[in-house]
Amino acid sequence: MSQPLTTRPTVAGISIFPFRQPPPLCTFLFVIVLFVATFYTLHHPNTTPHLLSRNSHNALILRRLFLSSASNATISSYLRALTRLPHLAGTKPSLDTLHYVLHHFQSLGLDTHVAEYEALLSYPAHISVTARFSNKTTVEFDLNEPVVYDASGGDDSSSSPVVKPYHAYSPSGSAQGSVVFVNHGEERDYRALESIGVSVRNCVVLARKGDSLGRGAIVKIAETKGALGVLIYAENDGGGSGGIERGTVMRGIGDPVSPGWPGVVGGEKLSLEDDRVTRRFPKIPSLPLSLHNAEIILASLDGARAPVEWRNSGRVGSGQRVGPGRTVVNMTYQGEMKMKKIQNVLATIRGSEEPDRYVILGNHRDAWTYGAVDPNSGTSALLDISRRFALLLKSGWRPRRTILLCSWDAEEFGMIGSTEWVEENVLNLGASAVAYLNVDCAVQGSGFFASATPQLDGLLLDVLKLVQDPDDVGLTVEETFKSQNNFIQRLSRVDSDFSGFLHHAGIPSIDMYYGADYPVYHTAFDSYDWMIRNADPMFHRHVAMAGIWGLIGIILADEPVIPFDYISYAEQLQAHRDTLSKLLEGKVSVNPLSMAIQEFSYVAEKAKDEAKKLKEQAYSKNDVAAAAKRRELNDRMMLAERGFLDSEGIKGKEWFKHLVYGPAAEPDSKLGFFPGIADAIAMNASEGMIEHEMWRVARAIQRASKALKGGFT
Ligand SMILES: *[C@@H]1O[C@H](CO)[C@@H](O)[C@H](O)[C@H]1NC(C)=O
Ligand SMILES: *[C@@H]1O[C@H](CO)[C@@H](O)[C@H](O)[C@H]1NC(C)=O
Ligand SMILES: *[C@@H]1O[C@H](CO)[C@@H](O)[C@H](O)[C@H]1NC(C)=O
Ligand SMILES: *[C@@H]1O[C@H](CO)[C@@H](O)[C@H](O)[C@H]1NC(C)=O
Repeated sequence: MSQPLTTRPTVAGISIFPFRQPPPLCTFLFVIVLFVATFYTLHHPNTTPHLLSRNSHNALILRRLFLSSASNATISSYLRALTRLPHLAGTKPSLDTLHYVLHHFQSLGLDTHVAEYEALLSYPAHISVTARFSNKTTVEFDLNEPVVYDASGGDDSSSSPVVKPYHAYSPSGSAQGSVVFVNHGEERDYRALESIGVSVRNCVVLARKGDSLGRGAIVKIAETKGALGVLIYAENDGGGSGGIERGTVMRGIGDPVSPGWPGVVGGEKLSLEDDRVTRRFPKIPSLPLSLHNAEIILASLDGARAPVEWRNSGRVGSGQRVGPGRTVVNMTYQGEMKMKKIQNVLATIRGSEEPDRYVILGNHRDAWTYGAVDPNSGTSALLDISRRFALLLKSGWRPRRTILLCSWDAEEFGMIGSTEWVEENVLNLGASAVAYLNVDCAVQGSGFFASATPQLDGLLLDVLKLVQDPDDVGLTVEETFKSQNNFIQRLSRVDSDFSGFLHHAGIPSIDMYYGADYPVYHTAFDSYDWMIRNADPMFHRHVAMAGIWGLIGIILADEPVIPFDYISYAEQLQAHRDTLSKLLEGKVSVNPLSMAIQEFSYVAEKAKDEAKKLKEQAYSKNDVAAAAKRRELNDRMMLAERGFLDSEGIKGKEWFKHLVYGPAAEPDSKLGFFPGIADAIAMNASEGMIEHEMWRVARAIQRASKALKGGFT
């Protein structure tokens, strides 16, 4: 339903009306006529080859046209189609979603292709968990989720059931032992157990998933402590629905049998016995457990009382005991690892003036179950963006730079589709990718959240000012974002497809979502029905996300001078240095960092002045020399992020090359940046080692300065 024209809020001279359904053809033609008329009355027609010249006025018209062509109805129809069946990577229904996305792009007339790989995926065959209690009764737990409704509308869901709750890449095997409750399974939790005399050696550990540790890390730490098996439960079990959280426990990302190189069909694949493969998998079996079953085990535990810090947190009561004692569990996971074809779909909108520079929008398509939140809220937004880009193309728009729209496969197994693609294209990405814009779960609840590399902060906030808040018609997303004291976070996490782009290839990146978390994560209840009942009944948040995502794409593709702000990066680096300095309490000097950041700030200021001058010229002159200067500055700004890469990578995680943002040893590192330094501190390394890691970061910052400055020493 369209909103009346008069109630559309206006922000900075741009009227925002994102909730319109697709206008009827006559309305659309009228908009085009109006648009053409506006253009011709305001501008000399001979100066521009295109309907839309890239001056500021026309940029505003274009952005308005993009926002006004949003449609909650089309987004909801895409989501419904994509989530009809569970579509785990490597299965038949997953192939159907591939064809759906492929056909969508093709029917819009976009230049579309499939990038196919072969990767080792992991599926469950048989799982069981039995417990013997002190009263001598033995219980075999029901490991299925309750079936509440049939999301397929009753046709063929029985032939495509939701996959059993399991941990992908868990080794097959049984583990039997007394149960020990280990809280979140962090190192400090084991230290707390040790302090009350509890060891988990030869036991089965029961862990509740917390905020700081992923399931792979929980299993890894349990393994080092001598546990035989791991059961993990989530305290928020689908909002009381009995959902069980699936997930991968693979270490590192990408196809395990082609580590570091693209898993192309017919390419080199390591054998399953190869040490480079086996070290990617845990040695002990693990399974997810429902909250209900976990609570039965928790209630039966005897032995020592839980450490004080764990009591009365979440659902763990003050009388909780941790074992080991008379509750014994026998858990079995039997699964298969299979080579499967996986497919990324890529649509290309060729740039008119700089076709060899790329702005990349990406989202994954595969899901653990129906995937309404994760990831197809993002897929629907991407499909709507492509629909609207096609409209803009019909009205004469050509982006200055090339835009790539990417639909990744097998993200849930460890970002495999995007990682293989990044590995295959790493040189071309390094030479020509301006930015990567990721949206995985577009909508999981309320409130806008974003993470970015810092040179993108300003652009992101500017775009939030142009988009109406989906939950408060009078406000922009930027206003609510600020009023909720939200801030742009950084991208050290390794939990979606931006990881390969940023951590391996050094591409400036953004990752965005609505909602901090959601109860049906990776459960059978992540369905269209859950979405419209709980997260976005009228798809207004989807519309807002598509608006933000698409506009950032348009601006990065179209602005003559790329709107990167490296002063923001310099300030963030200073703040990181200050945090680090406090943590080190003067034991190790942060001087090398300070010097490097000072130089980086200076170069960033210079780049800003240069950008300002060139921007003024961009709107007045159309001469070749100015265009060459702009391109030269743009390239330096594009390449500066690559400076943070180090060919040797992070120690022990060498594939991760970015020394400012990347995965650090969890959970003892509180930094969230400088992963090499964080690891050295967490591992209690010598001062010399910490100094060395600090120098490596300082040199990375110097490389970034050199790239941003240009020329040679
Ligand atoms: C035995 O103990 C378990 C765990 O505390 C409990 O769930 C079960 O109902 C008990 N069985 C009997 C027969 O008391
Ligand atoms: C544990 O359960 C599995 C599967 O039911 C069974 O094969 C195995 O023998 C059991 N282990 C022990 C020690 O009872
Ligand atoms: C789209 O939004 C309008 C209100 O702006 C609402 O009436 C309509 O039901 C929504 N459509 C869908 C499919 O949610
Ligand atoms: C770190 O090393 C110091 C000195 O050798 C030692 O006292 C401390 O316990 C160690 N900490 C950890 C977490 O290993």
